[in-house]
Amino acid sequence: PLPQVLDEAMIAAVVHGFYDEIRKDDLLGPVFNGAIAPQDWPHHLGKMCDFWSATLLRTGRYEGRPLPPHLALPGLGEEHFRRWLTLFRATVHELCPPDVAVLFMDRAMRIAHSFRLAIAFSRGE
Ligand code: HEM
Repeated sequence: PLPQVLDEAMIAAVVHGFYDEIRKDDLLGPVFNGAIAPQDWPHHLGKMCDFWSATLLRTGRYEGRPLPPHLALPGLGEEHFRRWLTLFRATVHELCPPDVAVLFMDRAMRIAHSFRLAIAFSRGE
């Protein structure tokens, strides 16, 4: 059965479900698989669970800086962000009750927007 409240089990389900889809995606799959070697995926998934745990449950488990690796990805553009958010929305609505899905989406859209602005700024646009 799917978890009904926002807890670590729900976060883990979202993170694993989302990156399963991402890795199969024609646009985003190559970006992620180019940046993360097969043996490094467990570490990446663990880090993303920590990130969402810190972001939504205030557990303090993620202390990294999420922006720099995105600035370093060449050619990251609007179509990547749109696809990322479309896949994320589908995942959270499939796996979470509507109120929790909205929490995930609200945060994801804010962060995606801050990344877009930072990428544009760093390119002098
Ligand atoms: C890390 C791609 C959007 C949060 C990464 C990595 C890639 C990536 C390839 C791994 C970097 C590495 O280890 O070398 C993308 C793409 C995006 C996107 C293509 C959409 C265009 C987002 C959004 C969020 C996010 C919207 C937040 C909601 C993170 C975090 C990390 C990460 C927290 C780990 C950073 C660290 O190493 O501490 N992303 N990302 N990403 N991404 Fe994204």
